[in-house]
Amino acid sequence: MTTRKKIALIGAGQIGGILALIATQKELGDLVLVDLPSLEQRVRGKVLDLMALRPHDGYDVEISASGDFAAIAGADLVIVTAGVPRRPGMSREDLLEINLGITREVARQVSRHAPDAFVILTTNPLDAMIYAFHQTSGFPGRQLVGMAGALDSGRFRSFIAMETGLSVQDVSGLVIGGHGPSMIPLTRTATIGGVPIDALLTRSQIDAIVKRTQRAGTEIVELLGNGSAFYSPAAAVMEMAEAYLKDQKRIIPAAARCQGEYGVDGYFIGVPCVIGAGGVERVVEFELTPEERALLDTTIEAVKLTVAKTGT
Ligand code: APR
Repeated sequence: MTTRKKIALIGAGQIGGILALIATQKELGDLVLVDLPSLEQRVRGKVLDLMALRPHDGYDVEISASGDFAAIAGADLVIVTAGVPRRPGMSREDLLEINLGITREVARQVSRHAPDAFVILTTNPLDAMIYAFHQTSGFPGRQLVGMAGALDSGRFRSFIAMETGLSVQDVSGLVIGGHGPSMIPLTRTATIGGVPIDALLTRSQIDAIVKRTQRAGTEIVELLGNGSAFYSPAAAVMEMAEAYLKDQKRIIPAAARCQGEYGVDGYFIGVPCVIGAGGVERVVEFELTPEERALLDTTIEAVKLTVAKTGT
């Protein structure tokens, strides 16, 4: 009997594999990787490889594979990456039909086998999939979150560091809204070592960074040629996972179920949230400028349109 946390990874593909690597290296808990029964052998190979990595730096965790959802029983945390990724020329929305069926099936299985787990989901189109997961599972909003804002904000911060040549460690900045082209990199919140970015970058440089952030996922899809980003999404998920598992009470932007915050009722929108042992403990609201508010209204409409396509 171990007192270590149990983390279930649903989907052991590109993101799932990197999640397993990071979770192992951070010793966040014991892992079970669940994928389609037809892929169980491949996932067992991945797991054996990860198990053999542990002695090199001394990671004391157990890792297992399964094609059966019963293996997630007792999980403290469930991370869902099950679904198909984009290929060049596809928008996230193009994945809706195929990933909706997968997400609903996973939601049924998670609510059956791990009804008390905190769930982080990455499957695209994120804004619709997190909504569908919520509808099917019946989980309360605080127990369920979509990973997008942490990734989009990380991309925003990375581009600021690349453009200025300054350390990424000192760059902060927030992206809110949907996980699509209407996302809002809030330039007003971006600082480097506490210094507002407009002191270090021109208006046109900042505008270019905003545009590049909004289509950063697409840029990677086009370059990869086969699949979508996986290192940075996995790192962004693990930041959220660690905040939950260690009760860090960090403010991280994520697709959280708003209940009146920002004038949104019942939809999952990318907003800053406090993540701790209680899951999404709070959606943090702050005043937007009229221009930011107008952009948020546009992105909320985009999210509602995507959700409407799920027929839920
Ligand atoms: N149950 C469990 N696993 C499933 C199921 C299911 N019903 N359906 C698909 N999977 C698995 C696939 O077999 C695959 O191993 O999900 C895994 C997805 O891995 P990849 O295809 O490598 O995709 P990845 O790059 O990890 O992205 C996963 O996250 O960011 C989003 O757009 C991305 O929707 C995509 C998802």
